[in-house]
Amino acid sequence: MGAASTQPQGVKFYELGLDERREWLGQQAGLSADELAALGGAAGLDPEQADHMIENVVGTFNLPLGIAQHFIINDRPVLVPMAIEEPSVVAGASFMARLAQSGGGFHAHVSAGEMIGQMQILDVDDLPSARLKLLEQRQALLEEAAQIDPVLQRLGGGPRDLQVRLIEDSPAGPFLVLHLIYDVRDAMGANAVNTAVERLAPRVEAICGGRVLFRILSNLADRRLARARCTVRLEALAFGEFSAESVRDGILAGWAFAAADPYRAATHNKGIMNGVDAVVIATGNDWRAVEAGAHAYAARSGRYTSLSTWGQDAAGNLVGTLEMPLAVGIVGGATRSHPTARAALQLMDIHTAAGLAEVIVSVGLAQNLAALRALATEGIQRGHMTLHARQVAIAAGAQGSEIERLAGQLVSEKTVRIDRAEEILRQWKHS
Ligand code: MEV
Repeated sequence: MGAASTQPQGVKFYELGLDERREWLGQQAGLSADELAALGGAAGLDPEQADHMIENVVGTFNLPLGIAQHFIINDRPVLVPMAIEEPSVVAGASFMARLAQSGGGFHAHVSAGEMIGQMQILDVDDLPSARLKLLEQRQALLEEAAQIDPVLQRLGGGPRDLQVRLIEDSPAGPFLVLHLIYDVRDAMGANAVNTAVERLAPRVEAICGGRVLFRILSNLADRRLARARCTVRLEALAFGEFSAESVRDGILAGWAFAAADPYRAATHNKGIMNGVDAVVIATGNDWRAVEAGAHAYAARSGRYTSLSTWGQDAAGNLVGTLEMPLAVGIVGGATRSHPTARAALQLMDIHTAAGLAEVIVSVGLAQNLAALRALATEGIQRGHMTLHARQVAIAAGAQGSEIERLAGQLVSEKTVRIDRAEEILRQWKHS
């Protein structure tokens, strides 16, 4: 059963204690005790399981797991698990998801789940004729590739197309590149694709007379795109001394900076990936693959630029879009073997890779908006300071309700330092 609401009635989620948050989450999402324990840190990946995942294991490594609130994605409320060490990210995503509710939440969809497997073909006599020989055998090669993974084939996946590219100029001279387009359904797909290109290589060599050297998936998954859009009603943008128009126009000017300048685009896209990676990690997916695909896609025109766009509609409301490759799965690897990843999928009531990608791309767009709104107004340090002040308060020895009170005082005094925090605590004890 999935989450019916994204926030507790009459009380803010972040104001609840750790145990109260867990209890609400368990009830809300209908999680089992084991799932709740996996999300709550009491259980999760143990060293014995980890020992079967990688080499030379000595233990496991933990990250904070937060729940982003207020997300409505394709008209469905979703509680989003985010694994990340950076303060402000979960709060920023939640707050922007709330602003986006003013315009109906996020609308997200994905293209087909097609990955690309590459073969580098060297030592062919005549590249153009070798290319045509391979294309002439396209159907036969696809039929052979379809035999490789009967399970995937039964699930409706498998080879979809074959392309042959000619690289005219490289440090190793000219060569051919064959692309096997492979629908991987609900898997991330690296294993299926790598197996397929390795198995097909001898047949390719026999057809074109060349030597297949590299056989590996491409992380530029530009046939597996996820897209999200949202509208934030103009009036929802106003806060403090900032008018709605000034916030919107500041966001648009800040986005233009990223659209035009790679130095800014790198940071802008990093902000998007703060949200994207946090969900990718929480669900046991390969965030290096997602990062590689995102940045390569951002540079596809030959100039690195923003992955998102921001503009305004006829009524002056803020409208945003994000389009990026998202090679994520819900079967295979850590998505199944990591208990917390399984519980994270259960929490979101996600049963397809496409559904997961729709959530992730929406969170990326929300995260981008959080950064743009802060940068266009009060700067990002203020929000960071509040969270930093909480950590300083805890380090100084504050407990329970003292933490918020002390953090608030440190921020209002603009002195977020441990010595001052300890001094205030001492004063409170003696008053
Ligand atoms: C910090 O982790 C992310 C930001 O730098 C993103 C941005 O500048 O857009 C705040």
